[in-house]
Amino acid sequence: MFHWAGLPSAAAKVSLLLLVVAVLFSWSSLSDRVPEFALTKIEESDIKDDSGKEPLTEDDADPEDLEVFYPTHQWQTLRPGQAVPAGSHVRLNLQTGEREAKLPDSEDGNSEAREERRRKRLGKVDVDANSFTSQELKKALAKMKESEKAERKAHEEEVRKKFRPIEQLKEEFEKLNVKMETDYEIMVKLISKFNSSASTLADKVAALYDLEYYVHQVDNAKDFLSMGGLQLVIEGLNSTEAALKEHAAFVLGAALSSNPKVQIEAIEGGALQKLLVILATEQPLAVKKKALFALSSMLRHFPYAQQQFLKLGGLQVLRSLFRQKGMETLHVRVVTLLYDLIVEKLLLEDSQQEDQLEEKMLQYQQVRLVPAVVEQDWCVAVSNLLAVPEHDTREKVLKTVAVLMSFCRERYQGDQALSSTLGLLRREYEELAAQEQREGDKDGYFSELLGSVNTIIQQLRGRQLRAPFR
Ligand SMILES: *[C@@H]1O[C@H](CO)[C@@H](O)[C@H](O)[C@H]1NC(C)=O
Ligand SMILES: *[C@@H]1O[C@H](CO)[C@@H](O)[C@H](O)[C@H]1NC(C)=O
Repeated sequence: MFHWAGLPSAAAKVSLLLLVVAVLFSWSSLSDRVPEFALTKIEESDIKDDSGKEPLTEDDADPEDLEVFYPTHQWQTLRPGQAVPAGSHVRLNLQTGEREAKLPDSEDGNSEAREERRRKRLGKVDVDANSFTSQELKKALAKMKESEKAERKAHEEEVRKKFRPIEQLKEEFEKLNVKMETDYEIMVKLISKFNSSASTLADKVAALYDLEYYVHQVDNAKDFLSMGGLQLVIEGLNSTEAALKEHAAFVLGAALSSNPKVQIEAIEGGALQKLLVILATEQPLAVKKKALFALSSMLRHFPYAQQQFLKLGGLQVLRSLFRQKGMETLHVRVVTLLYDLIVEKLLLEDSQQEDQLEEKMLQYQQVRLVPAVVEQDWCVAVSNLLAVPEHDTREKVLKTVAVLMSFCRERYQGDQALSSTLGLLRREYEELAAQEQREGDKDGYFSELLGSVNTIIQQLRGRQLRAPFR
């Protein structure tokens, strides 16, 4: 399918992602701004080696996980699906039609340090599409349209070069204009393609794949709802085809992100139960992964859904993922969802804004998440994840352990495995932090991790407990 200047839709999708990411993300804020850049939607990608090749991982086929591009001072071609750090210069190479990016020329030492720090995170970045406001998305979209204008110009130039007779030229240009369909029109077509009994499975999956791009936009998601698309997608969760379930969950998760209207409609349409069924039953990992993504989008900042989730035994369902074979990659996502939900509530309780939040406070008060967490022994399920080798996962788990500390302290104090793991982590990070300091990085990534480990060790030894958020 073609639209906007004849760009294949997948490429357009990629370019929006690129621009959104390029416009909106400031790397330095990712680790510091806990609430907004909450951990739920952890996007994993692998750092690329100097040859410019990316090692293949099972996540490569997962469009929800943005690949990250590491800019240098040279222009480098962006590959589809790569996300560009904020502050990078991005250009369209009119010769090749490819997008290229590099670091801005006036790179100062400060951001070099940041760059270094980022590399140390082993290429793992939190990209949280949930925190886009519609304003931000519009801005990104406007930028995208600008660059597409440039692309169209290039295309027109190409047509011109061929010296066609004037009639034929006109026809060409008309064709170009006809392709400027609105998002609304495109979504109508995609929904009917998905809903048509004449469509093959591949057609339907392709329609969902394209829809996912459009429903990220808050206004589009509302249109999607009024067109009846949301209900179709919720029913798609019930499909016997794994690929349809997976992509339906993907579209649903995208439409739900930061969109209260869609969140309400989706929970009324039975999406929560269906997602939990997927997570509780035997399904391919890819299906569960997307279902977990949709569940996270459903629950975040929506206390009513959180209550229902607890009532329906959702927390036990997530807990059961820790007992199933082959679901290991989901564990850290589950833990970060848990972290987000706990922190979301704590932050609201901490913020002293009255009136308009009161209703929300009352709703959150009924979300009895922490008692359920303690009762189901999440304390140890979480801390066991500290044994993984990836620094980035450990970082998230350390944060979660810190936030659980006031509730899980007794459990943790009796846990020999935890104290030996913490001892090992301390030794490892002492070494890495020392090396970092020798290289001139005073407040490096590893020093930070070492600090987190030490704080937890101290708290377990019974020093004075600090409230996690004050
Ligand atoms: C999907 O197809 C059915 C049957 O053809 C039709 O009744 C329904 O209105 C369609 N739904 C949407 C949202 O287009
Ligand atoms: C979903 O599937 C289950 C069985 O797998 C069935 O009982 C239920 O009626 C279906 N719901 C819809 C809306 O199709």
